[in-house]
Amino acid sequence: MEALSDLGPQMTAEREFPQSARAMLSAVLQAGGAREAVLFTYSDHALQSARGPVILNAGVYDVYLSSNGNVAPELFKCIAPLKIAGKLVGMVALGRRDGDAIYDIDELEALDLLCHYIALAVHNHALTQTLAQRVSENLRLLGSLHGFYDTALEAFATAIDIKHVDIHGHSLRVGRYASGIGEAMGVEPGDIAALRSAGYLHDIGKVAVDKHLFGKPTALDAEEFREMADHTVVGHQIVSGVQFPWPRIPEIVRSHHERGDGSGYPDGLVMEDLAMPVRIVALADTFDAMTSPRPYREPISVGGTLSEIVRMTPEKFDPNAVHALLVQVRRDAVGSNRTPFFEDRMAASISPVDVDHLAASLQHKITHGRLYLT
Ligand SMILES: [Fe+2]
Repeated sequence: MEALSDLGPQMTAEREFPQSARAMLSAVLQAGGAREAVLFTYSDHALQSARGPVILNAGVYDVYLSSNGNVAPELFKCIAPLKIAGKLVGMVALGRRDGDAIYDIDELEALDLLCHYIALAVHNHALTQTLAQRVSENLRLLGSLHGFYDTALEAFATAIDIKHVDIHGHSLRVGRYASGIGEAMGVEPGDIAALRSAGYLHDIGKVAVDKHLFGKPTALDAEEFREMADHTVVGHQIVSGVQFPWPRIPEIVRSHHERGDGSGYPDGLVMEDLAMPVRIVALADTFDAMTSPRPYREPISVGGTLSEIVRMTPEKFDPNAVHALLVQVRRDAVGSNRTPFFEDRMAASISPVDVDHLAASLQHKITHGRLYLT
């Protein structure tokens, strides 16, 4: 009983299993008056059929112990099964007693009692280990699933933009810009993956648009514009039937041409109606469209594009998202981005000082020129 009361707090304390095992063995040594004791954890052993501790002698060594282990069977004098719900989870083996006395009924009963508790601890440990193993296996599977998604969606993005040379790479860049903006806003990694995928897929409805519209050197007429604008609704229909790990994809695909002042399409939503991922993809999309060539104009410079975007903020674009875009552009300009936000074609085309001016004027616009002192 004394050994048992010592053992309780040891087993419930927050510690590693080897430490608990040591505490359990010292309780066994104390209760059995043994000089040596060993704890085994396994589930397949002849002890499965034993009802309690077994005294070992030359006649039963063969039944319970193998002679080709690294310990001679003769060193064990008594073994006791550790069982949970009748199933073996391990065993405790005792060596010699002081003065080589044999274990009598009192010691065996004490050992039997202790073994119920030791079995619980061993079983708990095995469960924890299995659980940890399952969790890490699941995480690995999830990781490869995400890798698979990324690769498949990249292929989609490339296919969407195949219709005209001017939009080659557009969806991939929007995915990269959207995730970069999100990252600078402190968005969580899981939501960054969603932003990247949404960027890859935002124009998926363009597969249904006549490819000649993409190469038209003049402005689209009303009917052509409607066909082009419909890519938002068509895209929404396409992705609505797909089970993505990110629930906002259909919403982003439908609303990426909406603007904060209600001037966008297809639903004429206003800023409060637009979730942050929608605002981010809309900004990334606009930024890439303006800095890319069109049949009717040259690409606009990064500086020109950003000052135009700042001019339209906060009316059309989310100021925090625009600020995050400026942060990424500035990091590129000073060379502190580990992986550059831009491709080479746009690298270093704006100075950090110019970005700072844009950030200051954005700040001025959203505070209406008032100074807030804290
Ligand atoms: Fe679009």
